[in-house]
Amino acid sequence: MFDLHGKTALITGASRGIGRSILLAYADHGADVILHCRKPGERSDQVIRQAEASGVRCYAVYADMAERSGPQKLIDGVKALGLQVDILVLGASVEIRNSWTEITDEQFDLQMDTNLRAPMKLMQQFIPEMQKRHWGRVITMGSVQQVKPIPPLLVYSAIKAAQYNMVLSLAPQIAPDGVTINNLAPGAIRTDRNAEALSDPAYEKHVESLIPVRYIGQPDDIAAIAVYLASEESKYMTGQNIIIAGGKDL
Ligand SMILES: NC(=O)c1ccc[n+]([C@@H]2O[C@H](COP(=O)([O-])OP(=O)(O)OC[C@H]3O[C@@H](n4cnc5c(N)ncnc54)[C@H](OP(=O)(O)O)[C@@H]3O)[C@@H](O)[C@H]2O)c1
Repeated sequence: MFDLHGKTALITGASRGIGRSILLAYADHGADVILHCRKPGERSDQVIRQAEASGVRCYAVYADMAERSGPQKLIDGVKALGLQVDILVLGASVEIRNSWTEITDEQFDLQMDTNLRAPMKLMQQFIPEMQKRHWGRVITMGSVQQVKPIPPLLVYSAIKAAQYNMVLSLAPQIAPDGVTINNLAPGAIRTDRNAEALSDPAYEKHVESLIPVRYIGQPDDIAAIAVYLASEESKYMTGQNIIIAGGKDL
């Protein structure tokens, strides 16, 4: 079960955090992988070397999803490599904290473009190709914020909910063609985006106290489910929102 040999997976936002962990897990299960992030650097080079150590091919395409031309640049990069995408993981996102009365147009646009417009453009490109081949897996990265928003994440939370609505809309439309789409909704996971906040031991303790399993999740806790959702074995599951949050009460 969960053999990904013969498949190619594109993972956006794979230079670090959850995306990196998913990419390495896919490589470990035999998929060729395409790393995407904003810019090349030591961090992404390291991920590429680690993936290749699993004996698969690891490609990289760099494009800023906040830019209007970003998604097309990524699509063109994948085409230039002569690759087809069998598994699409939409992980790249930005999260801007602000009081709801203070949110600026720039903050709104940056989150909308990166977290919703870009995933939609990539789905528009890659899903019809999957449908033609009668096989495909799409995984969106949501958040517990989509069902239980905290005050400083008004726009981020609303966008994650909107993205899941796209999943609900698309799932029955593409299911007859062998393409599934599901949303992963993590709770608190230790990555760069919350490293600074969690470096305060009092805050860290407070966060842990709210999680029944009593620890903050690791990226691999998400990657494990992402492997299942990318596999042949998940073919009977689509349109779902899967919450991975240590039993947190939502
Ligand atoms: N960590 C959590 O607690 C948590 C909880 C719930 C949901 N999530 C969701 O899970 C996903 C991964 O989160 P994470 O914590 O692993 O993220 P992270 O560590 O902050 O990494 C973000 C990734 O997205 C890429 N990215 C950000 N802005 C981009 C842009 N404009 N263009 C292209 N790439 C961009 C980054 O690339 P660069 O390296 O080039 O910047 C990086 O690879 C996100 O969708 C997030 O909303 C995370």
